[in-house]
Amino acid sequence: MIGGKKKCIGLIFGGNSNEHEVSISSAKTVFQAFKSEINKERFTVKAFYINKYGDWLDSDSSEKILIGERENNNAKKQELLNQEKINFLDGIEFKNVDVWFPLLHGMNGEDGSIHGLLRFTKKPLVGCGILGSALGMDKILMKTIFSNLKLPQVNYLVFQNKDLNDKEVKKKLLNEILKKLNFPVFVKPSNSGSSLGISKVINDSEILPALEKAWEIDPRILIEEGLEVREIECGIIGNSRFLASEIGEVSYESDWYDYDSKYYSKNKIIIPAEIDSKITKEIKEIAIKSCRALNIFGFARVDFFLEKSSNKILLNEINTIPGFTKNSMFPMLWKASGLKIEQLVAKLVDISLGL
Ligand SMILES: Nc1ncnc2c1ncn2[C@@H]1O[C@H](COP(=O)(O)OP(=O)(O)O)[C@@H](O)[C@H]1O
Ligand SMILES: [Mg+2]
Repeated sequence: MIGGKKKCIGLIFGGNSNEHEVSISSAKTVFQAFKSEINKERFTVKAFYINKYGDWLDSDSSEKILIGERENNNAKKQELLNQEKINFLDGIEFKNVDVWFPLLHGMNGEDGSIHGLLRFTKKPLVGCGILGSALGMDKILMKTIFSNLKLPQVNYLVFQNKDLNDKEVKKKLLNEILKKLNFPVFVKPSNSGSSLGISKVINDSEILPALEKAWEIDPRILIEEGLEVREIECGIIGNSRFLASEIGEVSYESDWYDYDSKYYSKNKIIIPAEIDSKITKEIKEIAIKSCRALNIFGFARVDFFLEKSSNKILLNEINTIPGFTKNSMFPMLWKASGLKIEQLVAKLVDISLGL
C-alpha cells in the first residue's frame, strides 16, 4: 500500500442479544465490503464473534462464520476463551487491531457495554461512546432528553422503579394511562430492539398483558399514544460535523412494524421518500440535533414518524449501530446519497480516526 501500513479492523459481531442473527448478517456485509477490490489495499479484517452466551471465539473460528464455512451456533465449549480471568481481554488477541468496528445490535453491545470494554484497549472504534450508546438504547432517557429540547414526539408516559405485581400500583397506572393517553397505545420495554416486547393495545382490557410482556424484558416501561404514521429514516455520519443522508421510507403490509414484518416479510423501501422538500430538510436538521443531544456520533440511523393525517414530523428513536445487512436501510440510504457500501465502511473508519 502506498503511504503506510494497512489498517486492521477488529470486527465484533454476534453477541448476547435477541438481535444476534441480524448482527451476523450485518457483519457479513461489512466484512465483504472491507475485502472488496477498492478496500483490500487499505484494510485487513480480524473477526471477533461473540456467541449467544456472551463468550468470545478466536479470530479463525469467527472468520469461518463470516465466510459461511461454519455454523454460528455450534461453538464447542473448549474453543471458547476463558472468561473467568479478572481481565478477560487477556484471552483475546487484539494486539494488531487498529480500529474496532463493533456491529452488535441490541443489549450487551449497542447499549454501550462493548464500548466500555473496548475503551480499555486504548484503540479507536467506529461509532459513538458509552454515553451515546446507552442513551440511544434507553427509550425513556432518550425521550426525556428530546422532550427537554422540545423536539417533536408522540405523547407518552413512563413507568419505572415501581412494582407491577403490586395491585394498587397497577390500578394507578391503568388510571393514568386512561386519563392521559388515547387508544391505541404502544407499550414498550425501555431497553429492547427489533420491536421485541412491544404491543399495540387497542382497548383497556389489553393493557395489563402488554405491560407484563414488556416487564419481562425491562421493568422500565414506556407507554406511547399510537398514531397512524408513515415510517421515515435518516442516516447520520460524522463526528463534530455531521452529514445527513437522503431520507428513506419503509412500508409494510402488517398493521405496524413488528418483529415478523421487520425480518420475515417483503417490505418496501423507498429512497428518497416521497415527501416535500421542506419536511425533508426539517427531518435532516432534527436528525442531527437529536444525535448531538445524546452525544451520538460516528454513525447512526434516526427514525421518525410522519403522522398521516397532519404530515407532522415526530421523532421516534436513534439506533446507534444500525442494521448493515444487504437489505438494511442504513447502507441503502448512503448508497442513494453517493456512498456505496465499500466507500461507506472506509469513510466510517476515517471518521473514527478523525481523518
Ligand atoms: N407511538 C407509535 N405510533 C405508531 N406506531 C408506533 C408507535 N410506537 C411504535 N410504533 C410501531 O412500532 C414499531 C417499533 O417501535 P420502536 O419504538 O421503533 O421500537 P424498536 O426499537 O424495537 O424498533 C415502530 O416502527 C412502529 O411501527
Ligand atoms: Mg424502531
